[in-house]
Amino acid sequence: MSRKLEAGPKALLSEVKIRQRVRELGAQITQDYKGKDLVVVCVLKGSFIFFADLIRCIDLPISCEFMGVSSYGSGTVSSGEVKITLDLTEPVQGRHILIVEDIVDSGLTMKYLVNNLTTRKPASIRCASLLVKPESVENEVDVEYTGFQIGKEFVIGYGLDYAGRFRQLPYVGIFEQEN
Ligand code: IMP
Repeated sequence: MSRKLEAGPKALLSEVKIRQRVRELGAQITQDYKGKDLVVVCVLKGSFIFFADLIRCIDLPISCEFMGVSSYGSGTVSSGEVKITLDLTEPVQGRHILIVEDIVDSGLTMKYLVNNLTTRKPASIRCASLLVKPESVENEVDVEYTGFQIGKEFVIGYGLDYAGRFRQLPYVGIFEQEN
């Protein structure tokens, strides 16, 4: 069911567009990991909605794990520090890991996660992100499964927040102070 967009923040990506792209990513992942032991890692909090939709488009027997990280305070600029607030509950040695992020901005968080999980000796690590901002190239992060490349604007909705708000918006909108 579609909700009206007029009342909320200006839309950048509609529900329909997101749904279509998530299906394509799920189909691609299904093809790439056939016959492999895949652990899909949801990076909390921001990716919980994308993750929930994406895993339902992956037609394979996967395991789901959750990792909590925080790198932002309550503003729109990264603190530059990544903290693990929740860790995996299962060993991942010898298994294939797919990290699912909501957005790769500077790439710092994803780089930190890849480095951290590499020490646990998985068979492989790949990254999926609903959104990728151009600055991500600075940290040389490879995102094999990208939903959409966007500009520098601060976005909210579909799991993404500003100061803890707007996560439940069904689309991705542009944050403006009057929101
Ligand atoms: P990075 O470490 O700079 O790549 O930032 C990654 C994290 O910053 C994401 O997981 C988000 O939680 C947050 N973030 C970066 N840009 C945005 C945005 O435009 N809207 C909401 N959160 C953002």
